[in-house]
Amino acid sequence: MSEERYLTFALGKGRLAQKTLALFEEIGITCEEMKDKDTRKLIFVNEELKLRFFLAKSPDVPTYVEYGAADIGVVGKDTILEENRNVYEVLDLGFGKCRMCVCGPESARELLKHHERIRVASKYPHIAKEYFYDKKHQTVDIIKLNGSVELGPLVELSDVIVDIVETGGTLKENGLDVLEEICPLSARMIVNPVSMQMEAERIKSLVLAIRKKLAEKQS
Ligand code: PRP
Repeated sequence: MSEERYLTFALGKGRLAQKTLALFEEIGITCEEMKDKDTRKLIFVNEELKLRFFLAKSPDVPTYVEYGAADIGVVGKDTILEENRNVYEVLDLGFGKCRMCVCGPESARELLKHHERIRVASKYPHIAKEYFYDKKHQTVDIIKLNGSVELGPLVELSDVIVDIVETGGTLKENGLDVLEEICPLSARMIVNPVSMQMEAERIKSLVLAIRKKLAEKQS
C-alpha cells in the first residue's frame, strides 16, 4: 500500500482558528504543537494522523486552497464571497455567525430606494459591487478601505458602508444603523477540487465526523 500523504489545512488566523481547533479536538484531531502560544513556527504537524496545519491571513486561505497548497481551508463566508476562488464549500461550521449589511446613518436610507449614484465604503468591494450592480441595479462608487469602515459615513467619505455586523455594537456606538441585509455569514470549510477527488475518502469521513459532532451539539 502506498504511504498516506499529508492532508494540509489552512486556517484563518484568530478566533475562527481557535474555534476550529477546539471542534477538531472534539472529533479526535489534535495538534499539540499548535497550543504553544510562544511558538514562531508556521506549520504544525500531527505525524500520527498525517495532518498538517498552518495559519494564514483570512483572505489568503481561499488562495492556498485553490492552488492546492492546502487541501482544506476554514474561513468566513465573507472571505469566500469576496475572494471568489475556485474551491468547493463543503460545510457550514455554524460558528462565527454574523451578517453582511449595508449600513449608514438613518438619513441615508432614502438613498437606497432610488437609483442615484452613491458612495459605498467597504473592505469587501467585490461583495458590495455584486450587491449594488447585480442585485439592486444601482450605480455606485465603491471605495476600498482596510478596516474601521464605520468611519466612512462619519467623516463623509461615503454615504453608506458594506460591512460585517455581529452584535451591532460598533454601529450603535457610532450612530449608524443596518439599512439593508445582504446575507448571513459564518465559518465554512472549503476544499480544493482536485483534493476532493484524490482524497475523497479521508475528506468525506472528516466532513461526516464534523457534521455528526455539530448535530450532537445542537440537540
Ligand atoms: C468587524 C466589522 C465591524 C465590527 C462588527 O470589524 O468590520 O467593524 O467587527 O462587530 P459588532 O457588530 O459586534 O460591533 P473588526 O473588529 O474585524 O475590525 P476592522 O473594523 O478593523 O475590520
